[in-house]
Amino acid sequence: MEKAELPHFDVLPQHVAIIMDGNGRWAKSRNLPRTEGHKVGGRVFRMICDYAADLGIKYLTFYAFSTENWKRPQQEVDAIMDLFRDYLFEMEDRKAENEERGYNIRFIGEKTGMPEDILNLFGTVEGDSEKQNKTHINIAVNYGGRKEIVHSVKEIALKVAAGEISADDINEEMISDNIYTAGQPDPDLIIRPSGEYRLSNFLTWQSAYSEFWYSDILWPDFTKEDFNKALEEYSKRHRRFGGI
Ligand code: FPP
Repeated sequence: MEKAELPHFDVLPQHVAIIMDGNGRWAKSRNLPRTEGHKVGGRVFRMICDYAADLGIKYLTFYAFSTENWKRPQQEVDAIMDLFRDYLFEMEDRKAENEERGYNIRFIGEKTGMPEDILNLFGTVEGDSEKQNKTHINIAVNYGGRKEIVHSVKEIALKVAAGEISADDINEEMISDNIYTAGQPDPDLIIRPSGEYRLSNFLTWQSAYSEFWYSDILWPDFTKEDFNKALEEYSKRHRRFGGI
């Protein structure tokens, strides 16, 4: 999209995080298998990713698969894993375009339990994009916010055990430095479609001061206009509460 065609927002969040919810219900309402909802959800993910980057949002985090999602029927889990594979192969193919767009892609979540081939592809896509700095895209896969905090605390405990730091040195910054999003700003805005009003273990540590935007729209129906609405509301809230 040409820059001139893009809408203007008085205040743009630096970091937007999205819970891509409602794929199953979207499919059910059309008498389609749930996996069709995920397929369309995957397309919407790509579209919003590029659109948000075009708008100039520097950090994006998408909740694609939680540590709890393994409880779903095996066929659905397998279909979601296949969608990740499709996306990862596509990112490899799009390497030059991603470089031009300045995409830095990071997969955040537990590595244990993930299929080996997907982990390898994560490594390739992360490696290919690690030097880029225009738009940071975090994709949360096998992610749980509480597990992330435990992971951070364990890293710090190792430093205490090794005598590198003392327990008294532990502070908030240290926890932030050892979570998966280390080095990135916390999300300013968290978007959850599908009429659910919870965080569902998403960015538990990072969301302490985030603004939330909810909508009844199901993720496969989510459009650029919905994204604009969330940004518009964010900019108003920011104007009301920010600054003097
Ligand atoms: C939540 O909707 C969605 C998921 C658990 C899967 C999200 C996966 C994708 C959007 C596709 C692939 C992603 C990438 C990064 C290529 P739900 O199934 O819980 O919906 P429901 O609440 O209506 O059942």
